[in-house]
Amino acid sequence: MLREIRQNEKISYHIEGPFFIIRLVKPDNLNALEGEDYIYLGELLELADKNSDVYFTILQSTGRFFSSGADFKGIARAQMDDGVKYASETSKWLSNFVARNVYVTDAFIKHSKVLVCCLNGPAIGLSAALVALCDIVYSINDKVYLLYPFANLGLITEGGTSVSLPLKFGPNATYERLVFNKPFKYDIMCQNGFISKNFRMPSSDAEAFNEEVLKELREKVEGLYLPSCLGMKKLLKANHIDSFNKINSLEVNGSLQYWVDGEPLRRFGQLSSKERKHRL
Ligand code: CAA
Repeated sequence: MLREIRQNEKISYHIEGPFFIIRLVKPDNLNALEGEDYIYLGELLELADKNSDVYFTILQSTGRFFSSGADFKGIARAQMDDGVKYASETSKWLSNFVARNVYVTDAFIKHSKVLVCCLNGPAIGLSAALVALCDIVYSINDKVYLLYPFANLGLITEGGTSVSLPLKFGPNATYERLVFNKPFKYDIMCQNGFISKNFRMPSSDAEAFNEEVLKELREKVEGLYLPSCLGMKKLLKANHIDSFNKINSLEVNGSLQYWVDGEPLRRFGQLSSKERKHRL
């Protein structure tokens, strides 16, 4: 029985057979997400988890980016938040950063269904961290990349990336890209088996790409005993679950001081006014 869940204008979902399909539908701002949107993503994952007819949770997006990460307008709003009286800066950023971050990361870490990401374009920041927590990733073409611009924004690793990136790309490749704020481009994603298949479609065809991936998945699951898929996911996950649980707490508690000190806010402000750019 599916329980009711609130709606969100930036994220839609529907169920089709064994697939729980979540789609980012705000291409105008490159599917940037605010704190509440990340919480909603976590809630949807919980919903998929609880539905015994669902075996695969599929993340799709729209437009030319998968997601450009945390919405800088939302961050500015959190900073100006006069509606709530916080006892201190620590209290404010516990609510506006730590809580949402730890929650959505945990929802991905503990998710029991097979997580499939349809990477229709680049992903940045916390959204890119969630992509790295998926079990299977398909790409629309070779123009996709993942960027974790923490060094450019006065932040540190989050969303489990301290574990997921070395695990999937190797420690040294991860250091090079995190420390010098460089993207993980298609080449390294392919070399490491991060991308299972490149669909070689134009970037403007996100909708057709999403449909093509689903069509292939429908064919691939035909005749399978789907509880075996979940049983194997549980075992594969058992290798790293403790490291992910530990790092989720260390990352958010480590980041908190950066927010309290204020450097990320200054840098997000510069990003918003286009004084600061990421090197791509
Ligand atoms: N928040 C809000 N709006 C965003 C956005 C974001 N993160 N990313 C893009 N947009 C908006 C832009 O403001 C722009 O809107 P207007 O047309 O109204 O000006 C529109 O989307 C298109 O963006 P650009 O014109 O900048 O497109 P581009 O192709 O030239 O550049 C980009 C694309 C490199 C992604 C650039 O937009 C960018 O650097 N965005 C910021 C990415 C970012 O740093 N995100 C935060 C990551 S950190 C994080 O996620 C961790 C955390 O929890 C805090």
